Amino acid sequence: MKYRLFLALVVGVLVSFLILFRVSATPSAPILSATAAAETETSEAPLRELAQKRGIGIGTSVDMGPFWNDANYRKVLAREFKILVPENAWKFEFVHPTRDRYDFSQVETLIKFAQDNNMEVRGHPLVWHYSLPKWINEGNFSRDELIKILETHVKTVVGRYRGQIPTWDVVNEAINRDGSLRDTIWLRNIGPEYIDMAFQWAHEADPQAKLFYGEYMTEEINQKSDGVYTLVSGLLQRGVPINGVGFQSHLGLSYLPRLDSLRKNFDRFNQLGLEVQFTELDMKIQDGKGSLEKRLAEQAKAYRDLLQACLQAKKCTALITWGFTDRYTWIADVTGEVEAPLIFDPSYHRKPAYNAIKELLSSNGNG
Ligand code: G3I
Repeated sequence: MKYRLFLALVVGVLVSFLILFRVSATPSAPILSATAAAETETSEAPLRELAQKRGIGIGTSVDMGPFWNDANYRKVLAREFKILVPENAWKFEFVHPTRDRYDFSQVETLIKFAQDNNMEVRGHPLVWHYSLPKWINEGNFSRDELIKILETHVKTVVGRYRGQIPTWDVVNEAINRDGSLRDTIWLRNIGPEYIDMAFQWAHEADPQAKLFYGEYMTEEINQKSDGVYTLVSGLLQRGVPINGVGFQSHLGLSYLPRLDSLRKNFDRFNQLGLEVQFTELDMKIQDGKGSLEKRLAEQAKAYRDLLQACLQAKKCTALITWGFTDRYTWIADVTGEVEAPLIFDPSYHRKPAYNAIKELLSSNGNG
């Protein structure tokens, strides 16, 4: 009897514990009504398979909170996507929190998951002005010290995965809206050559990896994308190893790129011999007009248009979204806005945007 009581107590505590900690990442408040069952099972071809047939990779960033805590998240991830980008886990502040300590545990869980599911992991980002640890921001290092620190960081992170990570975002968001170089800790203390150095170091650490520069609000031909064009042209002229440019594409229905300009823009980078990719695509709908249904249809069309531009470009090799379910999006986390920028709804149902992408990938032509 005593034993039974004890057992009941242990089971009770265990169940309450599991309920309490089932999902630790806060899901964003749904705009679309959440229905009971997650739509994770289907016999239809997944996006990754269709995309592969069309010669591009389809990917998403991965938020480690839901990755650990939400089985449906992992299920849909493994089923639909080929390229995984750790949304935060490789950022300087998380992977290199103190000067002599690295923490690769989160990323390595993801790499194992990718290997088990025949996926690839994309490296993001090696050199950025944001998400830096305190010891860098407040270190007051000399130029030589900072060069050494960055070199060690890049070589340690890239070198650890030599031959395993096909693509790295090496330098991220280094250009201002007017095309000039952004005032960052790296520019201020090292000078503009930090960009050349970072690409060189990454290449030395893994000569096979494709190296990308990543930027936002550069989808159209504008002052900022001109700045990127000038930057990467200079890198190529100086023989610095760079393979591509990532267009982040954090968009909204009221600020979608004009497609003719986007096409010309992609083309000029392709003409330099560089690949282009959509690397962080998402699209807000709250800034649009009309009913929810209408805005979702507009969102679907815009996703389709961008995919089409990618398929039609000379060398657009991937379309990667920044998250995949409206249940978890950085927009809600960072700005507090309730948004629906992705291709699955909060209950993992396919949205019109998913269907539009799927339909285009399944069609024979690009139009
Ligand atoms: O995990 C820590 C937690 O330990 C801590 O207590 C808490 C306190 O604020 O912060 C948590 O870290 C947050 C992290 O996301 C993980 O959730 C950071 O504050 C928060 O700033 C961070 O936001 C990320 C942001 O980049 C800054 O690194 C977003 O999730 C991520 O989606 C966003 O991604 C960027 C791309 O890397 C580059 N392009 C733009 C894009 C969107 O901003």
